[in-house]
Amino acid sequence: MRFIYIASLFLPFVLAADFTVGVGKDENTGKKGLGFDPSSINPAVGDFIVFEFRSGSHSAVQSTFDAPCTPNGGFNSGVQTVNDSLAVDAPDLPTVRLLVNDTQPLWFFDQAGGLCNKGAVLSANPSTSQTDAAFKANAANAVVPSGTPSSSVNSATSAGTATPSGSGPASASQSGQPSGAERVGTGGAYNIAILAMVWALLMQRL
Ligand SMILES: *[C@@H]1O[C@H](CO)[C@@H](O)[C@H](O)[C@H]1NC(C)=O
Ligand SMILES: *[C@@H]1O[C@H](CO)[C@@H](O)[C@H](O)[C@H]1NC(C)=O
Repeated sequence: MRFIYIASLFLPFVLAADFTVGVGKDENTGKKGLGFDPSSINPAVGDFIVFEFRSGSHSAVQSTFDAPCTPNGGFNSGVQTVNDSLAVDAPDLPTVRLLVNDTQPLWFFDQAGGLCNKGAVLSANPSTSQTDAAFKANAANAVVPSGTPSSSVNSATSAGTATPSGSGPASASQSGQPSGAERVGTGGAYNIAILAMVWALLMQRL
């Protein structure tokens, strides 16, 4: 019994999936570029959005559907600067994780990278009334607050790899895990497989 209780404590962690999103990576070419790869995701409650930063200076900042290029005071990854010499999918790129707490849509843009008007935006759990396409259209027409760079793709100016910045209101944490972008689609099956293994283990113990 105690074993089951202890094992059940770990189930939420087993079930939670990571939605890795490349920042400063073109989702169409797979190369360094503007925006987010992928630019629309559907994480579940308890999943993490893992922002993974490419060359240049980028930040993932939460905004709103109506004002895509203006910070809403929510999540802010802090500016992450990555050396231009690193390949697009180099290992150990800096990451910042954000826990998804509900099913409400979440909207983001790359403030440090600029180019919000050009489509450097991410939607998480867009709805039928607030679609990813409509968010991108809003971004194309959005006012970009002054002080926001208009372009800095692949233009790292400060030295070295990014240092973690804890400036965001959300407690962002740093981890050097490799890209899992390709794994995201299979996250569900992967979790079910792990769950099945946990159950098999439990049964053996009884
Ligand atoms: C980027 O990395 C290269 C190769 O490691 C290094 O020579 C260069 O100094 C780095 N540039 C910056 C801006 O840190
Ligand atoms: C979810 O809750 C955690 C813990 O309170 C918080 O750090 C995080 O910012 C929240 N996520 C969102 C998307 O607001």
